[in-house]
Amino acid sequence: MEDRRSFLKTACKPIVFATLGIPILEACSAEETDPSPIASSSSPTPTSTQKREPIVIDLSNGLFSDLTAVGGWMNYRGEDLLLVRITDDEIRAFDNSCPHQGNRDKWEYDGDSFTCQYHFNSYSNSCTGSLRCFDTNIENGVLTITFD
Ligand code: FES
Repeated sequence: MEDRRSFLKTACKPIVFATLGIPILEACSAEETDPSPIASSSSPTPTSTQKREPIVIDLSNGLFSDLTAVGGWMNYRGEDLLLVRITDDEIRAFDNSCPHQGNRDKWEYDGDSFTCQYHFNSYSNSCTGSLRCFDTNIENGVLTITFD
């Protein structure tokens, strides 16, 4: 009897449900893995009411090679950011949440504006446009993005 109690206390919930004949779709995992090993950020993407910690990106990392040339861009989904190289000395960072309905994953860039592929609304790469823009700084090949 004690073995059964011990098992129920320590077993992953889906295993317990499966043992009881209740189907459930959920993975068993003792810990979550960090999906963003490239950049350093001391906290996950916060909710809209929390202040977000700065993100520091080593631009020599090959995963950011799209940002090497002026006009290069990427949807950095691990941090919910659109990044675009404006000049040799400037990379802009925007929240990748579409102002229309908040989708984050389907963007195209034409050199001047981002177009969300859900309903094809376009947004300027200007920090005075509709996309939420964040402060950036490049120093010694390191991009720092700060959030107010
Ligand atoms: S959600 Fe982006 S254009 Fe509609």
